[in-house]
Amino acid sequence: MNVPNLQIALDQNTLEDALGIVKQAGPAVDVVEAGTILQLQVGNVAIKCLRKMFPDKIVVSDTKCADAGGTVARNSREAGADWMTVICAATIPTMKSAKKELSDLQVELYGDWTWEQAKAWRKAGIDQAVYHQSRDALLAGEVWGPKDLKVVKQLIDLGFKVSVTGGLNVDTIKLFKGVPVFTFIAGRAITGADDPYIAAKKLKDEIKKYWN
Ligand code: 5RP
Repeated sequence: MNVPNLQIALDQNTLEDALGIVKQAGPAVDVVEAGTILQLQVGNVAIKCLRKMFPDKIVVSDTKCADAGGTVARNSREAGADWMTVICAATIPTMKSAKKELSDLQVELYGDWTWEQAKAWRKAGIDQAVYHQSRDALLAGEVWGPKDLKVVKQLIDLGFKVSVTGGLNVDTIKLFKGVPVFTFIAGRAITGADDPYIAAKKLKDEIKKYWN
């Protein structure tokens, strides 16, 4: 089983904060993400800066794009992104036109979606899915558990490379032991730490402990 990637999600309100954090944590992660909140605040200059700082890492544009997939994906690619997210509510044509522009596309799973749709995404050539516990659901008391593992495993069985995200920390990683997760995406567990490099390193070490 491959060792899952560790991705940092930068959801700061300012570019200065985001870049200060990723300058420290970047060397300890595999993938860097210009988060939704950050891009809504500052636009795709966030992607441009990440590409410049990390020429050899995968850069993800977390637009959670719902429409105009081709245009949004082209803009993300031209800014330097490798991958982009589309929301699961987007239409197949939106996903297909976005995918044409990028080396890969991730369907971000929130709220209500069906297994019929998941099969249609695969048929449309989408091979990455992000299983997300929303920040608001977690704040409302939702926790990671067996029900999530079941869905993640079913998505993997359908052929998706599955990333998981939403309030992950060093204690939640072990829940996924034995599951071929593609990428763990962590935001606040790294960005809110006193030492973002140490926090990212601890997450990566925890991943390596269970996947080797
Ligand atoms: C919010 C996101 C976040 O980037 C993702 O949930 C990771 O952040 P955290 O670990 O802080 O929950 O997509 O929309």
